[in-house]
Amino acid sequence: MKVLVLYNNVLSVDKGEARDLVSAQGVAVAARAVAEALRPNHEVVCLPVDYEPSEVLAEYDAREWVVFNLLEGLGNRADLEPEAAAALGKLGFRHTGNPPRAIAICLDKARTKRMLESVNIPTPRYQVADEPAVHIDVPLPAIVKPVAEDASLGIDDGAVVTSRDELGARVEYVWRAYRQPVLVEEFIEGREFNVALWGNGTPECLPLAEIDYSAFPDPLRRICSYAAKWEPEREEYHLTPVSCPADVDPPLAGRIRGVAMSAYEAVGCRGYARVDMRERDGEPYVLEINPNPDISPDAGFPRAALAAGYDYQQMVERILSLAV
Ligand SMILES: Nc1ncnc2c1ncn2[C@@H]1O[C@H](COP(=O)(O)OP(=O)(O)O)[C@@H](O)[C@H]1O
Ligand SMILES: [Mg+2]
Repeated sequence: MKVLVLYNNVLSVDKGEARDLVSAQGVAVAARAVAEALRPNHEVVCLPVDYEPSEVLAEYDAREWVVFNLLEGLGNRADLEPEAAAALGKLGFRHTGNPPRAIAICLDKARTKRMLESVNIPTPRYQVADEPAVHIDVPLPAIVKPVAEDASLGIDDGAVVTSRDELGARVEYVWRAYRQPVLVEEFIEGREFNVALWGNGTPECLPLAEIDYSAFPDPLRRICSYAAKWEPEREEYHLTPVSCPADVDPPLAGRIRGVAMSAYEAVGCRGYARVDMRERDGEPYVLEINPNPDISPDAGFPRAALAAGYDYQQMVERILSLAV
């Protein structure tokens, strides 16, 4: 096959914190690894995109080339990820991963939660503050996050609040730094699972992964913060190992898989995605759904695929085969 590996070139961030750039640049790592994995069996071109997919695609014939879509936005605008996928479709290219609508729903955590609630999939209680003055009555402790970011942007120890004063100050901080509405969610103390799924229509669940927080006796410090995901110089990075396959008793594992599959279908995912959850009293609560999650070699999705017997190259080939 002829495959174009498209990824977004992020050179700067225009909001949030300067350190947020590291996570955005991770996509270039994924693009190189995917291109290498495809090279033995396909003709491959790796293409960085700035703002206009149509410009870089102009010289390629949509009837001959398939796009491996790693675009997590356009330029430094992560909010344009749905537009990026939509542009591929409009130009007539078959592409891997999710349709624009699923990406748009999942970019907005509140919109995702409304869709989940409408089909009775459990998700933590929440409220959205469109501006800092909004009265919030979510029970405490709560966690405060930007409504439409990923990669744990804006999530550090200060994100978990235990008093109304802390809550107010944190909402104000997130609103100012990330320039968007703020999601306040009840904090679910309990185990955390990531579920990787793939497929068009009814998805297949890969082996469950669990984040091991046993190094943190304080349950309120048990979060997968920005430092835990992206900053090797911080202790959290090393103290939040993931076990995959997770050690979960079969009834709970079955419930987790069922909820993850329903969530995937509820928002119209296709290709591949990862569902993040917390469990309390045997009930899995969906925190968010990540369409086209990170597939860099050391990321969670490839780890789950490997636990199911797919090495990196086989994983990449399978994602390509699901392109529509
Ligand atoms: N309601 C919650 N209760 C407990 N922990 C949470 C909750 N929401 C988020 N977290 C913690 O914060 C991390 C990041 O939140 P998440 O909603 O997955 O956003 P992101 O898109 O940044 O990954 C989660 O992996 C989890 O550790
Ligand atoms: Mg997450």
